[in-house]
Amino acid sequence: MPRRKTRLNAAAPHEQVLEKYLLKLSNSELFHDPERFPKMSSASWFGNDHPMELEVGSGTGEFLCALARKEPGTNFVGIDVHKKSLHNAAALASSFALRNIVFVSADFKLMYPLLAPQSLHCVYLHFPDPNVKRKFRNRRIFSERFLDEVHRALVPNGRLSVMTDHRPYFFEMLQLAERDQRWSKGHADRYVVGFEPLAKSRFQLRWERHGLATLRFELIKASAASTRGGIE
Ligand SMILES: C[S@@+](CC[C@H](N)C(=O)[O-])C[C@H]1O[C@@H](n2cnc3c(N)ncnc32)[C@H](O)[C@@H]1O
Repeated sequence: MPRRKTRLNAAAPHEQVLEKYLLKLSNSELFHDPERFPKMSSASWFGNDHPMELEVGSGTGEFLCALARKEPGTNFVGIDVHKKSLHNAAALASSFALRNIVFVSADFKLMYPLLAPQSLHCVYLHFPDPNVKRKFRNRRIFSERFLDEVHRALVPNGRLSVMTDHRPYFFEMLQLAERDQRWSKGHADRYVVGFEPLAKSRFQLRWERHGLATLRFELIKASAASTRGGIE
């Protein structure tokens, strides 16, 4: 199945909507001087002490906005690099008058220094770009470094949810995760087929329309060890 880019034609939301729901971080400043940014926390970003969850590559925001509507006592952060998707997500959050969500325009790989230790209850990586061409493989988000950083940022027993329709990428991610002894699985089977959230994301809907199964695994932060072998 070719992974063509589809166009989002919606007009940019009103300036006030973008001000309220979209935080733009400069990738160049994140790269050169990450210390100038405050750590991402409920206190600094939402002015409260509620639990916080994060979606990496939140796309057009359907999944995260549905969670934010259901759980007003939790803060949600969606990070993406694609401007039109972020505009769409901000407009959706505004249409529900959500007060517990913000979308961030930034490359997540540059945001690692902003992740505060034990600050996140859940991280979602849903339908990450598989970057199938060899020359683009280094753009993939899921890696040993990603697991290290997410592990550090999660609270004890915090969850990392990963899913995709792309079977080869899925099994590569699963194998990498299974070599890392700091996690347990959130399900009895090795992985799960299908996912029925409150709202399916744009990409889940798209690939299921094409008859491709959604493959998912959920990791639970089982140990406080900072190294993959589990020995500090
Ligand atoms: C296939 S889409 C999936 C979007 C959404 N999770 C969904 O299920 O519909 C992958 C998303 O990841 C974003 N993305 C890719 N690399 C990224 C990075 N380094 N940092 C943040 N977002 C990224 C893309 O812009 C795109 O919106």
